[in-house]
Amino acid sequence: MLQAIRGTKDILPDNIDQWQYLENKFKTVSDLYGYKELRTPIFEKTEVFSRSIGENTDIVNKEMYTFKDRDNENITLRPEMTAALVRSVIQNSLDYNLAVLRLWYFGPFFRYERPQKGRYRMFHQYGAECISSPYPESDAEILMLANMLISSLNIKEYDLLINSLGNNESREKYRNELVEYLNSVKDQLSEESVIRLEKNPLRVLDSKDERDAKALENAPAIIDCLDNESADHFHRVREMLDNAGIKYKLDNRLVRGLDYYSHTVFEFRSDALGAQDSFGGGGRYDGLFEQLGGKPTPAVGFAMGVERLLLILEAEKAFPKFPAYTDLYLVVGDQSNYNYAAKVSEILRQRGIRTTIELKRRKMKGQFKEADKLNAKYTLIIGENEEQNNTVSVKNMASGEQSDIPLDKIADHHFNL
Ligand code: HAM
Repeated sequence: MLQAIRGTKDILPDNIDQWQYLENKFKTVSDLYGYKELRTPIFEKTEVFSRSIGENTDIVNKEMYTFKDRDNENITLRPEMTAALVRSVIQNSLDYNLAVLRLWYFGPFFRYERPQKGRYRMFHQYGAECISSPYPESDAEILMLANMLISSLNIKEYDLLINSLGNNESREKYRNELVEYLNSVKDQLSEESVIRLEKNPLRVLDSKDERDAKALENAPAIIDCLDNESADHFHRVREMLDNAGIKYKLDNRLVRGLDYYSHTVFEFRSDALGAQDSFGGGGRYDGLFEQLGGKPTPAVGFAMGVERLLLILEAEKAFPKFPAYTDLYLVVGDQSNYNYAAKVSEILRQRGIRTTIELKRRKMKGQFKEADKLNAKYTLIIGENEEQNNTVSVKNMASGEQSDIPLDKIADHHFNL
């Protein structure tokens, strides 16, 4: 049997209500904050990602689906949206001179990671990006939007962790201090962290290896290296979160897996997820536009993993009750009654009532079974008698009550749906 690719999943009809529920929330919450949706192609020139996410990150080094197309062009299935979105804003000259450009997105992303609970090779993200304000107010807006989404989904158990990487100068200063410290404990580090120390030292802070955790116990904290401008920015962000009643934890080890960040970085984590506990993350990326050939433009944003949101909603039993497949099921007594029945079903659908009709020429018993399975509230029975008398027999599935309605009353008969 042909199988889907490892780490990918079909989204089946039984789960589609959950997905569409989330998709509606994404749109509603984005709308509330004045964000417009942007859709970009799911593949880009490889450079878009390698130049922005960073050559020495796991994503670029090990996880990108990259291939040459027939013109020998290097193409990559997008592993994330921020770089692609910045490419699109620059290319289409989307205007952010007079106003703040507020964008959101939802769609599939691809990373060649080892599949496990909450980690897939094709997954979905919802995200929002706020472009052209350098001020902490926009960091706070992005965090408030994310928080609004989480609360509108009734997620109760989660942590918001925040940190600041400061501006370039602060980060450079910290990097030097960290390298010096890490060199002094080099013999205690894991093999992987010794390599990271050479290539991307900040990533050592992210290591889950216990040897690294121990070696890092006395590591310098980035917060102590922030210059005044960076410290003020971060202070103001926290002040606005406090003001909005948004709870967070400071985590001076939080560095994130992508290189384009500066100043505020943050992550949302949930215990419901197991090892892959981060269901969203983001931060400010003031250097990215320039890196991708645009004019210097400050920006901040975040993305959430949709599969991980689904796992959390399931664990917290936070899904609402979804409607059954159909409201009415039209039982056709005999094939000869089909035309009459089809006419009735179209009158009902014109009224906006969800109506399903028999298509397999089954005996009535089989049709009632299907009506049950689809959880129809009413069955409408149309057989020889009904057709002769120009009526429809209506049965309320919950009460068992049955009555005959004249055909010309069907257009305004009251169904309790
Ligand atoms: P990220 O932390 O790499 O950030 O991904 C954001 C979220 O996508 C993660 O928190 C996780 O929920 C989900 N995710 C990532 N990889 C997988 C996977 N293999 N399977 C399932 N879910 C996954 C970014 O992508 C940045 N672009 C976020 C951002 C926007 N920063 C600024 N603006």
